[in-house]
Amino acid sequence: MECLLISEDIIQRVRDSNDIVDIISEVVKLKRSGRNYVGLCPFHNEKTPSFSVVPEKQIYKCFGCGEGGNIFSFVMKTKKVNYVDAIKYLAEKVNIVVEEKDGLVKNANDKIYKINVEAARYFYSNLQNNKRAKDYLMNRKMSETIIRKFGVGYSLDSWKSLYNYMLRKNYTELDMLNAGLIIKNEKGAVYDRFRNRIIFPVFDSRGKVIGFGGRVLDESKPKYLNSPETSLFKKGINLYGLNFVLKRGDIPYLLMVEGYMDCISLHQFGVDTAVASLGTALTVNQAKLIKKYTNKVIISYDADLAGQTATLRGLEILRKEGLDTRVLKVPSGKDPDEFIKNKGKDEFIKLIDEALPLIDYRIQRAGEGINFKIFKKEPDKIIDYVRKISSILTELDPVEKDIYIKKISENTEVKEQSIIDLLNTNTNLDKESKEMYNIDRIGQKSYLEPVYFKAERSLLKLMLNSEEIFNYVRSKINKEELLLDSHKKIYDLIIMKIGYITESHPLIEILCDDIESTKEWINIKELDIPFSEQNSFKLVDDLIKEIVKHKLESKKQTLISEIKSYEEKGMIDESLRLVIKLIDIQKEIGEL
Ligand code: CTP
Ligand code: MN
Repeated sequence: MECLLISEDIIQRVRDSNDIVDIISEVVKLKRSGRNYVGLCPFHNEKTPSFSVVPEKQIYKCFGCGEGGNIFSFVMKTKKVNYVDAIKYLAEKVNIVVEEKDGLVKNANDKIYKINVEAARYFYSNLQNNKRAKDYLMNRKMSETIIRKFGVGYSLDSWKSLYNYMLRKNYTELDMLNAGLIIKNEKGAVYDRFRNRIIFPVFDSRGKVIGFGGRVLDESKPKYLNSPETSLFKKGINLYGLNFVLKRGDIPYLLMVEGYMDCISLHQFGVDTAVASLGTALTVNQAKLIKKYTNKVIISYDADLAGQTATLRGLEILRKEGLDTRVLKVPSGKDPDEFIKNKGKDEFIKLIDEALPLIDYRIQRAGEGINFKIFKKEPDKIIDYVRKISSILTELDPVEKDIYIKKISENTEVKEQSIIDLLNTNTNLDKESKEMYNIDRIGQKSYLEPVYFKAERSLLKLMLNSEEIFNYVRSKINKEELLLDSHKKIYDLIIMKIGYITESHPLIEILCDDIESTKEWINIKELDIPFSEQNSFKLVDDLIKEIVKHKLESKKQTLISEIKSYEEKGMIDESLRLVIKLIDIQKEIGEL
């Protein structure tokens, strides 16, 4: 959960001082209808109004397309701004001054910045005075200039040298703990976090030191030790090296690598658009950060790592944010650091020029180990391949899809139509969104959603009802078992921020800082559950069953289409194997 920069109190005041009818009227022509207002929905095309605004509840809802939300999500959606900017926009209208969260937090952060800079200087001077550490970096061909630029340092092989140094500089133990520079054990003894390590200060995009990474000088473990999360140092919101890249006027692309050493080496050898994600999976926040500066990202991760789905998922995040995302492969399993040191800048630039678009890269990977020239001898591999690919393709827009289907059909000699059929039978999120829009008799889209949406909403609603049910739901289903991301988020909010208190707690709504979760929260609030203390536990059980059933049903659909395709190919053994699985699943469904 992101930390809100604006205090909850101010957000509530902003919401209460604005009227949703006024704000929506700026965009939609509203007509009074009883207690509510109706108009043509701004979120889908329609001729008769199904969009309604409920002033009493300060919400809107469209019965045509299912959109819904509050004043903040309306501004976010129609003005295409984020939550904080929506709050600021609405605050200005009613002359509320929005201050970033109180001065106290700001002061505490300033103190951490200060102690971090002090520590970085200390580590830097240690390095200059320590032959072993200096030799290590020289052996790795790190130049004196780049050491200075990146502020690389060394932490002494000692338990308290930094600690004592900071005390002399009038910092307190608490300051050091807040900055993550020292560790306190159970007995209350304190000691330096980083000992006998090469130190890499981590800068934010403005060049302020927010934390540190420390590498051992030999093969011992752990290879890297990083600062813990502090109020400045948070996983997944920063990119190492970005502050240096920003010194360039224009940024044609960012070159994303995994490690400190890769990033530093690339800069040293003149590839000055390199940043590092520091070994963690990419996040939406990082994608948004990148988008501020460029629209193209080239990723160069270790060969083995790029194979991991987690990494690919990270890349999908970039692509989905609309970034042109490419994958650079360093030959023979080297990392970018080793490659550029051995082969030089020009060879590396060649690799950059050859980087494949993410989709092509994924398709290429799916085809590894298949010899397309003799594919007729490997029908099972081809089927497997086409299936893998179809799951890649479902995410593309129709034009892209068309292009890739043609290519794949040529490679495999599988008919285009067969690939298209497979795409359509694939049960995945794409299908879910299709389910939501059924064309009804009049030819107008009407809103129809999968049953489990409602089941999840009901569970969340029930959690707000009493402490017993709250605990019961928690014991029966965890966050990861919910299907919708927005529901996962609300589940967390209920647990973290509220615990069990009361229904329609205004805090939850305020903490929903994106359009989807706001919409779902309002759906949950609006939900009417026939509720009595006696039936509530059974109700929870039934709702969970519904979710489980949905999962099994969608597995079943996948199996059925797989069986069909094996049968068409005359692969009886394979299809029988799946039929057995199918029977199991059907039995499971029956037993629910
Ligand atoms: N990492 C980490 N903790 C570890 C291992 C790795 O935080 N125990 C992070 C570091 O940010 C590291 C990155 O993951 O830079 C990539 O890991 P790796 O490829 O192992 O390190 P390199 O940066 O290549 O370091 P070196 O070349 O010195 O081995
Ligand atoms: Mn390396």
